[in-house]
Amino acid sequence: MRKQLKICILGGTGFVGHRIAADLAEQSHRIVILTRHQQRHRDVLVWPTVALKEGDVYDSGLLARQFRGMDVVMNLVGILNERGHRGKGFEHAHVELVETISTAIQAAGVPRLLHMSALNASTDAPSHYLRTKALGEESAHRIPGCNVTSFRPSVVFGERDSFTTRFAQLLKSIPWKFPLAKPAARFQPIHVDDVAQCFVRSISRHNTFAQSYNLGGPKIYTLYDIVQLINEVTGLHRRIVSLGDWQACLQAAVMEWVPGKPFSVDNLRSLEVDNICRTPCLLPFGIQPTPMESVVPVYLRPGNDTLNRIRNAPPAPLP
Ligand SMILES: NC(=O)c1ccc[n+]([C@@H]2O[C@H](COP(=O)([O-])OP(=O)(O)OC[C@H]3O[C@@H](n4cnc5c(N)ncnc54)[C@H](OP(=O)(O)O)[C@@H]3O)[C@@H](O)[C@H]2O)c1
Repeated sequence: MRKQLKICILGGTGFVGHRIAADLAEQSHRIVILTRHQQRHRDVLVWPTVALKEGDVYDSGLLARQFRGMDVVMNLVGILNERGHRGKGFEHAHVELVETISTAIQAAGVPRLLHMSALNASTDAPSHYLRTKALGEESAHRIPGCNVTSFRPSVVFGERDSFTTRFAQLLKSIPWKFPLAKPAARFQPIHVDDVAQCFVRSISRHNTFAQSYNLGGPKIYTLYDIVQLINEVTGLHRRIVSLGDWQACLQAAVMEWVPGKPFSVDNLRSLEVDNICRTPCLLPFGIQPTPMESVVPVYLRPGNDTLNRIRNAPPAPLP
């Protein structure tokens, strides 16, 4: 019989973390999800072995108490945008938090950490997002006495994502021509179930200790191709207009002032680097990656309430 593990997840209420928690719960592992907003995320309590604890994840004392007795910690906290422009919000969520987690893991003696980074994370990357993701990943791999594995996915898609559904929502709300920045930027989108399986299957595999895995799907697309796919499956058939570089800068600067910051100058800088694996990106553990074409038309089909749900949700406050 498989051992029932005690697992604490930070960011377990988010798009990817929720999927991982579901897969772990199916295997009857005991899971504690730490969240800033317990009431908003009570849906995870449908699984009998999942508990939700509210608290400040930046409090190392609280983390150490929650980590005590855990077999595994998973960190999926991440932000795509910050309130200001100087990178402080990114540093807080991607670097300082990992340092706090490190202190708490050492205090509690947790033997295993699975950490979520991002493809192209590098200390000389053009955006705060990618630079701070790299610093966080490096810091995670330096925790003494803890076996760390990190994952670096390209963009992750699936129902309730903030990528395909965001574009579907924007296409819906802009009636005629759809202005697209960086149409030639390339991505290797990976399905959320495949990312979740990488986390779940790596937990007890010793050959994943101290490793970082680039995760990409089966096909490389330009941003234009992806938006065109969404355009077709939603039945919206907007005319997509490619923006030049200065128009894209203007669009990003304006969108920074829209509530929830749907696009920003920092996002635009991340798009300067193709979001694809440099070497053939085989998923670990023999996982066969899911093509976009087999699932996006299901959750974005006309009449599915995914779009309405997102449109009615209030924008999240920025850190
Ligand atoms: N989605 C993608 O395409 C993609 C691609 C590459 C890498 N990643 C990385 O994968 C991870 C998960 O992504 P996701 O799409 O699932 O994100 P998500 O849906 O936005 O979830 C992120 C989680 O982090 C917590 N969180 C957000 N901001 C925080 C803050 N300032 N301080 C503390 N906690 C905060 C939230 O938990 P509470 O609100 O419950 O506290 C939330 O559940 C992130 O690290 C992201 O950078 C994602």
